Amino acid sequence: MNALRSPKPDSVREKFAQARRELSAALIERDEEVDLVLTALLANEHVLLVGPPGCGKSLLLDAVMNWMSVRKFSILLTKFTTVEEVMGPVSLAALKADRYRRVTTGRLPEAEVCFTDEIWKASSAILNTLLKVLNERVFENDGEAVKVPLRLAVAASNEWPSPDSGKELAAIMDRFLFRKAVRPIGSQAGRQRLLWHRDHTPKLSATITPPEVDRAHAEVAALPWSNAAKDALETILRELAREGVVPGDRRQFKTVTAVRAFAYLCGADGVRPEHLEVAQHCLWDSPEEQPQKVAQVIAKVANPTGMRVTQLLLEVESVLAATDVRNLADAARAAAKLGEIDKQLSTLAGNGRLEKARAYLKDQLRKLKLASIEAV
Ligand SMILES: Nc1ncnc2c1ncn2[C@@H]1O[C@H](COP(=O)(O)OP(=O)(O)OP(=O)(O)O)[C@@H](O)[C@H]1O
Ligand SMILES: [Mg+2]
Repeated sequence: MNALRSPKPDSVREKFAQARRELSAALIERDEEVDLVLTALLANEHVLLVGPPGCGKSLLLDAVMNWMSVRKFSILLTKFTTVEEVMGPVSLAALKADRYRRVTTGRLPEAEVCFTDEIWKASSAILNTLLKVLNERVFENDGEAVKVPLRLAVAASNEWPSPDSGKELAAIMDRFLFRKAVRPIGSQAGRQRLLWHRDHTPKLSATITPPEVDRAHAEVAALPWSNAAKDALETILRELAREGVVPGDRRQFKTVTAVRAFAYLCGADGVRPEHLEVAQHCLWDSPEEQPQKVAQVIAKVANPTGMRVTQLLLEVESVLAATDVRNLADAARAAAKLGEIDKQLSTLAGNGRLEKARAYLKDQLRKLKLASIEAV
């Protein structure tokens, strides 16, 4: 069965598919990050991106924020940021009446989507309040637990919290179901695009409203898991335990919805093993060696299209980097290898990213042939 189903043009799923296409087209080598942020929104969960300065984190997260026509809150945290700036100032009128109530207008407690940049720089006081907002979606105001409307929290940082940074940061880390390391652009073609395109800001042709997000949540919840996918998840968890990676029960449980949300984003009718790809960003606790172990186990058990595509594209890059196009024998060898990789790609089930990878490969083959003809 093909993984791609054509959603009705006016359906909310098509809106997600369109945003996915437009974001991936504008941002260079950020397909996985785009998928992750959209999946988080669909799963009603939060996402953390960690990567070096200037690798497109804010560009992506700002674009997704703009796409959502909801109340937003965005802040660059420093060690000097005060709780007032995040949660709102204390009401003077209330103080006069011996109450300690924050005026939350325009601040995090009233936001439906929030972006916290440099999250680990925040003070303990901010992190503690954030914890409750992210996890229980509740904010304590003047002794009263107020429900917050938060749908999606996105966060970015240049580094993971150090292992000895204490329980507070570990607790916040755990509130992000999706966490991913973002790497700089790797391909030659990507670097050229980065250098010579004037503007990389994604321009999305539509926006999404809260009722539409609610509808998408309901559609995600209705997506069934196939038995093969259930077996694959159980096998993955068993194999991970053998490797010493045991994500907490809450994390394991939430992964079920995460994978459903990703299957929905891929346009599938139900969850199949290949959709477990997204679980590589959920099923670990410590960012040092575990993410790689989890990725290996998932790749082995579920053989997801996206992970195979990433791996084969890396092979394409190493073939191109090692080829001297002016040397005809070298170019012919490279063309044969690229042809072989395309054959492998053609056996995979489509997931949106596959089609783009094949188009890229074809383009590289064409350029390779042209360059070697010119050399002659
Ligand atoms: N993958 C990418 N695709 C398109 N443009 C990119 C990409 N990576 C970097 N850029 C360019 O670099 C600029 C800086 O990116 P951005 O501000 O999103 O980085 P960042 O990861 O948020 O960095 P910091 O950690 O310093 O906040 C972008 O505005 C864009 O022009
Ligand atoms: Mg940034």
